[in-house]
Amino acid sequence: MRTLAPLVVGAGFIMALLFAIFASVFTPGFSLTPDPTAVSLFHKAPRHFEYSFEGPFGKYDHQQLQRGFQVYKEVCSNCHSLKLVTFADLKQIGYNEAEVKAIAKGWQIKQPTISNKDGSPTTRDNIPSDNFPLRYANDTEARSQNNGAVPPDLSLITKAREDGSNYVPSLVTGYTDFPAAQAAQFPDTRPDNNHYYNPYFSALNIAMPPPLKVDGLVSYKDGTVATREQMATDVGAFLTWAAEPKLEQRHHVGIASVIYLFIFAVLAYMSYRTIWGDKKH
Ligand code: HEC
Repeated sequence: MRTLAPLVVGAGFIMALLFAIFASVFTPGFSLTPDPTAVSLFHKAPRHFEYSFEGPFGKYDHQQLQRGFQVYKEVCSNCHSLKLVTFADLKQIGYNEAEVKAIAKGWQIKQPTISNKDGSPTTRDNIPSDNFPLRYANDTEARSQNNGAVPPDLSLITKAREDGSNYVPSLVTGYTDFPAAQAAQFPDTRPDNNHYYNPYFSALNIAMPPPLKVDGLVSYKDGTVATREQMATDVGAFLTWAAEPKLEQRHHVGIASVIYLFIFAVLAYMSYRTIWGDKKH
């Protein structure tokens, strides 16, 4: 009798488990595959953009980063901050000391500070060691000017989103009409007056108005033609640099480590042969 007890308990557990499975499977509306949603059917993965920094030998193209900075400055900075980057960092993408000073001084949003006279809040021109100033004083101000949405800081956006270097240009060029197929299947997901349809955005409807609506929004100093695709790729490259300025050094260290490990493996094999070579037949 004692030996039967565990069997009975085990069988009881199995019965309860089977009951639970059958009860849920036969519940009306239950399905092992969740119902498709508008996002699961219509959301798109980023398109692929050709970048010079791809692959283990990839390097940033400074001309492209400067063009991307120009797009950020003239278009995106109207709504987005870049608070983790300093003006002096721009030297890394090929601007000289005087150019950096001029960019900082001419930046439209001034740096908050306090008055020397009475300590009250005021602003001053930016200097190279300053971080790019915040676009809005706080989220409430940001929301009130952007139909209730906060434009995120772009310093780390290419790291914060999956496949970010491709995501950013896909997003800013990805606006389309609300697809008829989605309208037929999910009529409630039509964007309202404060949103725009963009299949690359996780929620499909985004509060950001299309920022690169037409070609030629900026005029590039190096003569490159500023098509929408070009501006999007350039700003994608610039924001990748902003999030990962040390990418080239990382590539160098990676290659050096592989070479080191290879030499080490050869040495290890040679010493193995020296020590054991004559002991085996
Ligand atoms: C008129 C203001 C405005 C301009 C100009 C603008 N954006 Fe935005 N952006 C927004 C707002 C608002 C959001 C938040 C959208 C939301 O949450 O629905 C946003 C969100 C984003 C996001 C984040 C999307 C996500 O996955 O959360 C990225 C990336 C972005 N913008 C890139 C850019 C780039 C690049 C430019 C310049 C080419 C630009 N934006 C210009 C207002 C703007």
